[in-house]
Amino acid sequence: MSLTVLFVLLQALVISTNLAASPKTLNITAISANAEKQSTLECWQLAAPFLSSTTAGTSGAVFAQLGEGGATSYGILPPQFDGGLHNAPAVQWVSFTAGKAVISLPNSTQTATVYGGREGLILAADTKNVSTLGHRTTYPSNHTTVAIQIPLENNAIPLHSILHPGACVKYEENS
Ligand SMILES: *[C@@H]1O[C@H](CO)[C@@H](O)[C@H](O)[C@H]1NC(C)=O
Ligand SMILES: *[C@@H]1O[C@H](CO)[C@@H](O)[C@H](O)[C@H]1NC(C)=O
Ligand SMILES: *[C@@H]1O[C@H](CO)[C@@H](O)[C@H](O)[C@H]1NC(C)=O
Ligand SMILES: *[C@@H]1O[C@H](CO)[C@@H](O)[C@H](O)[C@H]1NC(C)=O
Repeated sequence: MSLTVLFVLLQALVISTNLAASPKTLNITAISANAEKQSTLECWQLAAPFLSSTTAGTSGAVFAQLGEGGATSYGILPPQFDGGLHNAPAVQWVSFTAGKAVISLPNSTQTATVYGGREGLILAADTKNVSTLGHRTTYPSNHTTVAIQIPLENNAIPLHSILHPGACVKYEENS
């Protein structure tokens, strides 16, 4: 076997090992809305694939693109806080990095419990024009919850497919 062939084979092995080891797409819980203008919880599989980075500092690690963001904020929510019923102010990523948020819906028994950390990213997309009442968020833990809110430019909803109604479960977000 020539060296070149061996090299190509080795490269293919490395690539397939990388693919097997890294998740292909990101799944996130989304607060969306139905045709009756009621907020819903859904598990979305984002279309943007995880791609290998060539940028210095992260070269070889995989990244999924989340889109163009607007004015970003860092929020500190006190323990036992009740945010009440509200609409998403804009289509936005909410990345919970600490604490716990519980999302409930006025016309459904579905809830989503989001813990700060690796599975802490959700998309809030139930803006006033698509949902009459919105959703309720409470922060029932005895610890502070931290939420980084990243509104998407032009309220652009990321391309996605719907895996199922209801929040994603842990293994779907990090398998
Ligand atoms: C939805 O919930 C709101 C607020 O609790 C209530 O006023 C309304 O009657 C409910 N609508 C339906 C269709 O159940
Ligand atoms: C929060 O703190 C209160 C008062 O100290 C305690 O009764 C309650 O069990 C705590 N709740 C949780 C979820 O730890
Ligand atoms: C709701 O409003 C946003 C922002 O104004 C807009 O981008 C979006 O297209 C609207 N959605 C619908 C279904 O009208
Ligand atoms: C997202 O869900 C799909 C389908 O269930 C799964 O194949 C994939 O591994 C999940 N992605 C992550 C990052 O867990």
